[in-house]
Amino acid sequence: MPKRILIQLDPDSQPSIFDAVVAVDAGADVLLRHGGVTVDTVVPLVHGAMFTRGGADLASTAIFIGGSDVPAAERLFDAVRGTFFGPVRVGVLLDPSGANTTAAAAVVAAARHLSFDASAVDGCRAVVLGGTGPVGQRVARLLARKGVAVTIASRSQERAEAVVERIRGGLPSAQLRCVASGSEPLPAELRSAIEAADLIVAAGAAGVRLLSASERSAATRARVLIDLNAVPPAGIEGIAPTDKGRPDAAAVVYGPLGVGGTKMKIHRAAVHRLFEDASVCLDAEELLALGEQLDAAG
Ligand SMILES: NC(=O)c1ccc[n+]([C@@H]2O[C@H](COP(=O)([O-])OP(=O)(O)OC[C@H]3O[C@@H](n4cnc5c(N)ncnc54)[C@H](OP(=O)(O)O)[C@@H]3O)[C@@H](O)[C@H]2O)c1
Repeated sequence: MPKRILIQLDPDSQPSIFDAVVAVDAGADVLLRHGGVTVDTVVPLVHGAMFTRGGADLASTAIFIGGSDVPAAERLFDAVRGTFFGPVRVGVLLDPSGANTTAAAAVVAAARHLSFDASAVDGCRAVVLGGTGPVGQRVARLLARKGVAVTIASRSQERAEAVVERIRGGLPSAQLRCVASGSEPLPAELRSAIEAADLIVAAGAAGVRLLSASERSAATRARVLIDLNAVPPAGIEGIAPTDKGRPDAAAVVYGPLGVGGTKMKIHRAAVHRLFEDASVCLDAEELLALGEQLDAAG
């Protein structure tokens, strides 16, 4: 069996150490780390992966695209996939800023307690606070794909509408709307979205509180509240970082570390998967499917 080589392509000048450590823990024998990669420089790197090993051995080479610049990483993902032809390809995983694995883990956590069954008479409703960031956008996209009616809260109508447009571009049937967020008192539209929500996900920037305890008391229907912010103060007041399905009034709550364990499992399993099948391309949707399999297996 040839050594498992993971080629880390990163738009940042210094490729992410976090991604490198996870890759080694997930079983990569050799890591080739490239920083400052752009769509103009990526093709020869991909050719190097495609043309060195043949047949079944090709699956022992794979590409991980990460880094902190999410749009740049997405452009690299498209360029890498566009370079492959026929069976001459290697597995690719896209997870810039951990956004795909984190969003997938948040949706897996919510699905433990909620049915996303689109045929339900009164379908599931979610509010994504900080829904314009890399993580929030993906949470919104994954939920919308499940048939959930998603409200994206943002301080900027323009940014929120751009997110809605982007998601609808790939999913025209998505039930999405945007509302203005802001400090107390909550804007009326956001307050009524929170009152009606079955699920609330806080995906705001690190160290930013998006929902105080009194604002949260409007969430009378919510069955799951998830806070992804690990830097104090909590994004949703009263949720501790380690909460993992903790009952809290009528809901269950998850904090960033409670979701983070699942995120790490998905990340490691995804790197494993790359080395099983050279045809896989793992974006948020495929990572969610992987997370659902892992969760079902316990
Ligand atoms: N648990 C894990 O393993 C894990 C992994 C990755 C990320 N995370 C966490 O997940 C969260 C989301 O990550 P991200 O990279 O998507 O976040 P981000 O891009 O830094 O911020 C998300 C959104 O928060 C809003 N925001 C920023 N500053 C704000 C402020 N001062 N007041 C109110 N809103 C503000 C912005 O939305 P608007 O400007 O549109 O309002 C922004 O788009 C972060 O807390 C991050 O640390 C956790």
